[in-house]
Amino acid sequence: MLDQAQALRHLVHSKDEGSAKTTRVITVTSGKGGVGKSNFSLNFAMALQNRGYSVLIFDADISFANIDILMGTPAKYNLIHLLKGEKSIWEIIQVGPSGLQFIAGGSGFQDLVQLSDRELDYFAEQIGKLHGHLDFILFDTGAGLSKETVKFITAAEETIVVTTPEPTSITDAYALIKMINGMGHSASFRLVVNRVVDDREGHQTADNIRQVASKYLNMDIPVLGFVPDDTSVTKAVRRQTPLSIAFPNSEAMRGIDRIASRFLLEERSLSSSRGFTGFMQRMKRLWS
Ligand SMILES: Nc1ncnc2c1ncn2[C@@H]1O[C@H](COP(=O)(O)OP(=O)(O)OP(=O)(O)O)[C@@H](O)[C@H]1O
Ligand SMILES: [Mg+2]
Repeated sequence: MLDQAQALRHLVHSKDEGSAKTTRVITVTSGKGGVGKSNFSLNFAMALQNRGYSVLIFDADISFANIDILMGTPAKYNLIHLLKGEKSIWEIIQVGPSGLQFIAGGSGFQDLVQLSDRELDYFAEQIGKLHGHLDFILFDTGAGLSKETVKFITAAEETIVVTTPEPTSITDAYALIKMINGMGHSASFRLVVNRVVDDREGHQTADNIRQVASKYLNMDIPVLGFVPDDTSVTKAVRRQTPLSIAFPNSEAMRGIDRIASRFLLEERSLSSSRGFTGFMQRMKRLWS
């Protein structure tokens, strides 16, 4: 396990070595709020890291950021320090449990689109500096379609849409996919069904969304997997310790581990046409 100092040294070292990795950007989002995005993002990031990948989790929920609270690691600096131009991207990267790198969102920041062009350029340029130093950047967004979430979704290579089996969560997940599609963006989506009683419920939920998306939007939305409903998640949240550390053998963590394995397996066969350079270009285009 890396301690904080080791992890930071490692990061600074990789910064000096220059770009070596292909950095992939994934956005995690949902239609309805409270479906488990932040817990999924955090533990999915931990699962990828446990498999030897370097991951940075970026709390892109600017109004109600809480990844640092889930980790029990108070963030000294956050996204707002970067957006205000007070700190560089390297200075706002914090190190959480097991050396997981994260950027805290900060709270109460209104809206990215209210930033001036100069501030936005600085933001995009600073994110661009991460290219080559990480295997994955995961953006954990707020629920629903705020303007900045639309930008993250349309700029990222892939979006994981989290839903629960609740009808309201299903319809909101579909509405989100439909809206992005209706805006003419070519986003690529995969589904994670959280809080399932069993695999059957997971399949039913996913099929529901897949069938409607196929019929009305002519879109294929593959399923990445299911996470069982498990009281360990709530217990881990109360302990402010990631599930992957507090309950590594819990049903929910095993579900997330299966998703990580599947994700990596399919990742290798994906083309990198929507690579990091593409991400930067799309960010700039969308914001200009
Ligand atoms: N697999 C699960 N089993 C049981 N409870 C869960 C599970 N996943 C999430 N929860 C519960 O749902 C709560 C909300 O989770 P989380 O904060 O990750 O949702 P969110 O989608 O990020 O919310 P928001 O939309 O506010 O950002 C957790 O505190 C936990 O109590
Ligand atoms: Mg959240």
